[in-house]
Amino acid sequence: MNVAIVGTGYVGLVTGVCLAERGNAVHCIDNNAEIVEKLRGGAVTIYEPGLEEIYQRNLRKGRIEFSSALEPAVLKAQVVFLCLPTPPGEDGAADLRYVLDVADEIGKILARNPGTGYKVIVDKSTVPVGTSEKVEAAIRRHAADHADFDVVSNPEFLREGFAVEDFLRPERVVIGSDSERAIVLLKDLYEPFLPPGNPVIVMDEKSAEVTKYAANSFLAMKISYMNDLAYFCDAVGADIDKVREGIGSDSRIGKKFLFPGLGYGGSCLPKDVKALLRSAQDAGTPLAILQSVEDINQEQRKRFYRKIEKHFKEKLEGLRFALWGIAFKPNTDDVREAPVFYILDELLKAKASVVVYDPEAMAGAKARYGDRLEYAESSYGALRGADGLVIVTEWNEFRKPDFGLMKILMRQPVIFDGRNIYDPAKVRARGFAYHSIGRKSHEGHATIG
Ligand SMILES: NC(=O)c1ccc[n+]([C@@H]2O[C@H](COP(=O)([O-])OP(=O)(O)OC[C@H]3O[C@@H](n4cnc5c(N)ncnc54)[C@H](O)[C@@H]3O)[C@@H](O)[C@H]2O)c1
Repeated sequence: MNVAIVGTGYVGLVTGVCLAERGNAVHCIDNNAEIVEKLRGGAVTIYEPGLEEIYQRNLRKGRIEFSSALEPAVLKAQVVFLCLPTPPGEDGAADLRYVLDVADEIGKILARNPGTGYKVIVDKSTVPVGTSEKVEAAIRRHAADHADFDVVSNPEFLREGFAVEDFLRPERVVIGSDSERAIVLLKDLYEPFLPPGNPVIVMDEKSAEVTKYAANSFLAMKISYMNDLAYFCDAVGADIDKVREGIGSDSRIGKKFLFPGLGYGGSCLPKDVKALLRSAQDAGTPLAILQSVEDINQEQRKRFYRKIEKHFKEKLEGLRFALWGIAFKPNTDDVREAPVFYILDELLKAKASVVVYDPEAMAGAKARYGDRLEYAESSYGALRGADGLVIVTEWNEFRKPDFGLMKILMRQPVIFDGRNIYDPAKVRARGFAYHSIGRKSHEGHATIG
């Protein structure tokens, strides 16, 4: 099938490359000339495990091409995927400018080229309820009434860090449409990806739009619930790891998304929670629970930072910190809304110096802090002379370090573990002061004040 992808960021590039891998002819459009040039020249622009290999293969075979020209791609395509940014506006609502501007362009293209054949325009961006109608209206404003197209909501559920795997073997595909023609075309496109038993769920556009926000907000709710519970465990001397095992083995609750940490970040959960909150308020049905989810998420990084302050009796000036992990989660270079920025801002405000290390996301810190931070080539390199190590992202390479070497390199053997990746007893037995989340970080109770 001939497919156009508009916007080649995390979702668009993965969608394009995976569709090409299944034999489709894919035309990727991005208005960022630098991205297009790199992708044309064989340089993949984002980090996702497994992406490079299938990108290179499909580029070589000529199944995928990159350009800034929307018109030729739209004219050729049967299906046009909109994979455009929907960042939060000032009031938390999703900013639909990118999506609607492109819809407007598509309308003009269809108006200039009548009789180009039936097309499905797919909203893959995460968009508030009612956006499909707006996209359709934006196209119709230019294209004649009889222009032959449908607008479908097809939210994307891929996880950064597992994006290729998720796209190639989705747990489910949601198609929001009441057009039989569009549904048949999209089912055809997705069929080669679906493992046996994993459904295509067809619904109306609005329900599909709500489904995406409902899914991300539910996941955010699990995270905030566990973070708040960890705070409580810290105060009463219980162990959140044990509580997690205890509740996670109940199949109604499930084992995933129950890990306390520094709170959720990234380009999806924070903005999607805010956008659903806003939509619900606008509809006169505020989702009170989501306000708490958001508030706890902001509070969680502050609670963690207070552990650092408390350990050093509020005197951080002149201390040197090593910080492991910048990305908002492992296996990505994405630093959007990463909790690390709060920790870094506070440490710098307190006049501490910081050496950071991340296997993939150093550029994100360099772009924001420049020479206000030091950048290490390796995790151990960051530790030299450090008064404390702060673990922000649970990359696998941090999980089994050489504690003996760490102790030699550090000036003070203190670890603040924002992801609970070590066994507290073992780390303390090696002579470290160890602070984690909800696991009796200090001897005694009520560790967070
Ligand atoms: N990142 C994720 O894990 C994820 C998962 C599911 C859904 N989503 C949703 O998918 C959408 C895209 O997210 P993303 O992370 O891929 O964003 P992104 O910022 O990585 O990519 C968007 C791309 O669109 C391009 N673009 C902007 N305006 C354009 C225009 N007028 N014409 C052509 N290209 C244009 C940008 O240059 C950029 O390359 C968002 O709505 C997001 O919420 C993201």
